[in-house]
Amino acid sequence: MLNMSGIGKSFLGVRVLSGVDLEAQAGEVHAVVGENGAGKSTLMKILAGVHVPDEGTITIDGRTVAFHHPLDAQRAGVAIIYQEFNLLPERSVAENVFVGREPARRGVVDRAAMEAETERLLGELGETGFGPRHRVGALGVAQQQVVEIVKALSIDARIIVMDEPTASLAEHEVELLHTLVRRLQERGIAILYISHRLREVFDLADRVTVLKDGALVATRPITELTTAELVRLMVGRELSDYFPPRATPGEIGDVLLKVADGGNSRLRGIDLELRAGEITGVAGLQGSGRTELAKAVFGAEPFTEGHMTPVRPRTVREAMAAGIGLVTEDRKAEGLALRQSAGDNALLAARATGMRNGKVRELLQRVGLAPPDPEREVRYLSGGNQQKVVLARWLNVKPRVLVFDEPTRGVDVGAKAAIHDLVRDLARDGVAVMMISSELPELIGMSDRIIVLREGRIAGILPAGSSEETIMHLAASHE
Ligand SMILES: Nc1ncnc2c1ncn2[C@@H]1O[C@H](COP(=O)(O)OP(=O)(O)OP(=O)(O)O)[C@@H](O)[C@H]1O
Ligand SMILES: [Mg+2]
Repeated sequence: MLNMSGIGKSFLGVRVLSGVDLEAQAGEVHAVVGENGAGKSTLMKILAGVHVPDEGTITIDGRTVAFHHPLDAQRAGVAIIYQEFNLLPERSVAENVFVGREPARRGVVDRAAMEAETERLLGELGETGFGPRHRVGALGVAQQQVVEIVKALSIDARIIVMDEPTASLAEHEVELLHTLVRRLQERGIAILYISHRLREVFDLADRVTVLKDGALVATRPITELTTAELVRLMVGRELSDYFPPRATPGEIGDVLLKVADGGNSRLRGIDLELRAGEITGVAGLQGSGRTELAKAVFGAEPFTEGHMTPVRPRTVREAMAAGIGLVTEDRKAEGLALRQSAGDNALLAARATGMRNGKVRELLQRVGLAPPDPEREVRYLSGGNQQKVVLARWLNVKPRVLVFDEPTRGVDVGAKAAIHDLVRDLARDGVAVMMISSELPELIGMSDRIIVLREGRIAGILPAGSSEETIMHLAASHE
């Protein structure tokens, strides 16, 4: 159905893709993998008409196409779902599905037709838990993704690109998405699927294409590969899948942060102790209050009830003065100054401590930024590399308490391992770490104990090494 051949692209004289071939058949899930900055998103944006390639050809159903605008690609049946959705939060589901091409009758938008068609498409996807009139801003991330899929279906897309669709989903939502992907597959749609979660690549994909440094490494049927082989193709060397060793009882020290009966509009009855040297994992479904807990501790959405020591911060400034740091999950909205350089961003938090510029490069190297160029504007970095800059910020500040909200989201396998080591090193240096992650294997591998949140409360605290089943059960069960 799709054939991209010899694709090349440079930005401002820097080559980011050269001679890349990619094909997809009807009803195939074709995974595209590779390290941060390998060129995956750029290749997909070329297919979606966002970027025009410098070299190469694209054919769809045997016909050569040339896209100069995303609408050209849409008309040719290509839909792309970005990690940061393109939805209007104040509008309804149906309005979002038909934005820019609303059906009209006698010059007036035909709401009834719009809603009926949206309803029909939602129905095809099975139970989604919302209707055409729901306001999009009130939906969860997973449901917003469903809206994007419905949008793709409504333009009769035959090729759907999903760029890290599960990066912000909780485990049970991932399964829902996989079900939807299989349903699309049955309809003969070709799906190009970018992911850093190798487990789902093996679960879903028929074939996988590996990119490295902008070049094609290999395209293989997934059945011909093991995880270790795929990792080797991606990073060019062996990687152990082990996590750094957990803290021994002797390494765990004083309580550095204590919350008693903490609450606000989203959280209730939070009792929590974070100790020096210990990594406390936080599990929970989307909406269970994980990010809210991080923000409350960091003073961004403060506790309004209960006690907290050393201080119950009313502002971020108060929290930081008390030695509390937060590595945010939403790097676009909260984490980074996109128009500034990587070095400036890394320094934002460090400047206060009088860190010298010469050390910045070293810091960026430690988080695996490639290349560790402090001058590069952050908005031109790939998604995963932006995440590494956020992390670099806190490393040298070394607060007493550091909260990580999804620290490895969108980060490639090699860098993930490096980040895991960094987080453990911080703990070993005496920092009390709290870590939120939707990836249960990561949460289990890293945590010395695991707090499970449910509906804004602590549903239970589990020891290190608890199983995914135990965590999921506690996260989802209702009294
Ligand atoms: N608009 C742009 N201007 C300049 N450079 C860019 C632009 N878009 C991407 N790049 C560069 O192209 C390279 C490939 O980036 P791309 O976003 O395609 O990587 P990726 O494989 O999707 O990585 P990730 O896994 O981190 O999302 C990177 O070096 C990036 O900095
Ligand atoms: Mg990308």
